[in-house]
Amino acid sequence: MEIIVKETPEEMSQVAARVVAATLNAKPNAVLGLATGSTPLGLYRELVRMHQEEGLDFSQVTTFNLDEYVGLSEKHPQSYHYFMHENLFRHINIPKQNIHIPSGTTHNYAAFCQWYEDRIKQCGGIDLQILGIGTDGHIAFNEPGSSLGSRTRIKTLAKQTIEDNARFFESPAEVPIYAITMGVGTILEARKIILLANGEKKAQAVAAAVEGPVTSMVTASALQLHRDCMFILDRAAASALKMLDYYEWIQANMPNAP
Ligand code: PGA
Repeated sequence: MEIIVKETPEEMSQVAARVVAATLNAKPNAVLGLATGSTPLGLYRELVRMHQEEGLDFSQVTTFNLDEYVGLSEKHPQSYHYFMHENLFRHINIPKQNIHIPSGTTHNYAAFCQWYEDRIKQCGGIDLQILGIGTDGHIAFNEPGSSLGSRTRIKTLAKQTIEDNARFFESPAEVPIYAITMGVGTILEARKIILLANGEKKAQAVAAAVEGPVTSMVTASALQLHRDCMFILDRAAASALKMLDYYEWIQANMPNAP
């Protein structure tokens, strides 16, 4: 695991955007795994800027989003379809047919989930997966207790997640109870993973994921098993890491490594 600590959320977003741009420069038809939530907003703003000002090209890119609320239509302002369209897709040159987001309104969830898994494989697998982390340590909507081998499926949201996400809805009662989400096993198959976290309220979850045991109680801890995973944090989100000095020492000495 590589731990990168920046002073601000803006710097965190810029580092993440450079990782995405490097991936696309090396492989213009890369498959990206995308996340929603407050955390990646700065990253998406920076990617839009890079597209508009520097010509970062998405014309051959394919994307798969992590999750969607069950029961919200694509037009619902709190759906992740809407979020992605508003914050990224409508500002870049990605072909519509290359975009994949789990359906929150299918009539056959089991069949849809299998199709989503098969479609990721048909597209060659995910080259770079972007993740946030929940205050309960979840990645995507893999709540505590999710199998670390889980695949795309319906998941019941934890009460803490419903409370965390209630800020986007009129009231907690309006937050959907179910979501369709890629599994931990699905995520771990990505070739490279970057997890972004900022703010003090993520500090405990980040510490548990990086320095705690690998456990389904903190599904982000499964990332310890991945060979190419980078946590990009702001200083507040890194504040509960016991080995912080060492991670910064590694980064400081990396340019001279043999
Ligand atoms: P947030 O959500 O970026 O809105 O904090 C992160 C998550 O729940 O994965």
